[in-house]
Amino acid sequence: MKVAIGCDHGGLHLKQDIKELLLSLGHEVEDFGTHSTESCDYPDIAEPVAHAVVDGNADRGILICGTGIGIGIAANKIPGVRAALCHDTFSAHASREHNNANILTMGERIIGPGLAKDIVTIWMGAEFEGGRHSRRVEKISALEQ
Ligand code: RB5
Repeated sequence: MKVAIGCDHGGLHLKQDIKELLLSLGHEVEDFGTHSTESCDYPDIAEPVAHAVVDGNADRGILICGTGIGIGIAANKIPGVRAALCHDTFSAHASREHNNANILTMGERIIGPGLAKDIVTIWMGAEFEGGRHSRRVEKISALEQ
């Protein structure tokens, strides 16, 4: 899969770990920055990653900031985005199976790289179950109108 990835200064180190993991799993990665520890604003990174996903230029997105919260709130402002903050493996697969999450967000200041890599591996491998969940996701989409 092609994965759009991005972070602010608070997620820089974890983004590098996740990039390496994705490449080792055979995925293609497009990195939308940031590329240094200089302070930046997470909405500026969330926006291009979100557009890459909803415009079909990437299959999935992964966004990382200090907490995973701000960058996810920003991404969810873009119609078509279903960004899910996951800091445990159950949420990681449930966000795909039930919510058809197309962006995963995490906080580098919250979890370590080992757990984060497990979360990404599970999230990338999980598929939307459809069925009754389709109706609910369609109702989320309707809220954007
Ligand atoms: C940056 O200091 C920090 O606020 C940001 O990375 C994130 O945690 C916001 O939600």
